[in-house]
Amino acid sequence: MKAIRIHKCGGPEALLYEELALPEPKPGEARVRIEAIGLNYVDIYQRSGLYPLQTPFTLGMEAAGVVDAVGAGVSDVKPGERVAYAMVPGSYAEYATVPAWRLAPLPANVNAQAAATLMLQGMTAHYLAHSTYNLKQGETALVHAAAGGVGLLLIQIAKMRGARVIGTVSTEAKAQLAKNAGADHVILYTQQDFLAETKKLTDNKGVNVVYDSVGATTFDKSLDCLRPRGCIVLFGQSSGPVPAFELGKLGAKGSLFITRPSLTHYTLDRAELLARAKDLFEWTASGKLKLRIEKTFALKDAAEAHRLLEGRMTTGKVVLIP
Ligand SMILES: NC(=O)c1ccc[n+]([C@@H]2O[C@H](COP(=O)([O-])OP(=O)(O)OC[C@H]3O[C@@H](n4cnc5c(N)ncnc54)[C@H](OP(=O)(O)O)[C@@H]3O)[C@@H](O)[C@H]2O)c1
Repeated sequence: MKAIRIHKCGGPEALLYEELALPEPKPGEARVRIEAIGLNYVDIYQRSGLYPLQTPFTLGMEAAGVVDAVGAGVSDVKPGERVAYAMVPGSYAEYATVPAWRLAPLPANVNAQAAATLMLQGMTAHYLAHSTYNLKQGETALVHAAAGGVGLLLIQIAKMRGARVIGTVSTEAKAQLAKNAGADHVILYTQQDFLAETKKLTDNKGVNVVYDSVGATTFDKSLDCLRPRGCIVLFGQSSGPVPAFELGKLGAKGSLFITRPSLTHYTLDRAELLARAKDLFEWTASGKLKLRIEKTFALKDAAEAHRLLEGRMTTGKVVLIP
């Protein structure tokens, strides 16, 4: 089978399209013939070495396809079943072996590309708005990178929860997408001071929660956007890691809460995984949640997809096709 492998971490040129032996499922695993692979920002952290993995490795954390073999003791899925998963390394490939409990069976009305959008970015938006910070009717959320993969989904789910959403984006075109997704206000954080604008939009009170995936360039000001007892959810670092942080600042700035969540800990068991997947699949099938699959690339062209994602030139989801 073909796969994208990394022998030495680095830029997009580190992605090598290679031939590998077909993997055999071990006990508790299923083998998936992959139809659609989700591109995610974590792929860039792993490719660059910011999140170190032992080399050589097959990149990728999300895919959808069809089960074609199962290992001993598997009862959660059967050969022939359409499934999707996330948070298991090795999805930039024609086949992958995956712990069977991590596979969500797909309803007939959710296609592989949609599923490869929902399992990582969709699940993340779901847990951020329901579990990390349980958004309530009338609360205000600030969502950075609002036209990105997670961003466009998080806006929609936050609106379903009855929140008011302020989004930040880098361009006018991205602002339009965030508005179309339901954002009440959009700030061009490359041209406007997002702290001053957020204060203006909240009568100087600040927001209840900031969902910050940008990190280095936004974190300090994000804290100042919060009202007393507000919560900063630092869930990514597209602009670079946030430096060491003095906890005393949380008190001085208004008894704030801070958390650094990961999807792994919000899909701890099969029941939690399937409950989130059920919501996402139903909302997508009914049209309540709209997916933007902006671009698809052949798997062998993954390097080009990485250049665009890292260069802030994508919106919504990018899917790779093996
Ligand atoms: N913790 C978790 O469980 C979890 C799960 C999924 C994703 N994430 C995180 O969520 C974030 C979004 O992931 P995604 O896959 O949906 O990506 P994405 O939002 O589609 O792409 C990243 C976006 O970040 C913004 N950005 C700001 N400064 C940047 C910079 N210096 N370089 C690159 N991008 C910059 C860009 O939007 P603008 O051009 O509008 O600024 C860019 O489009 C990532 O930080 C990712 O690690 C975390």
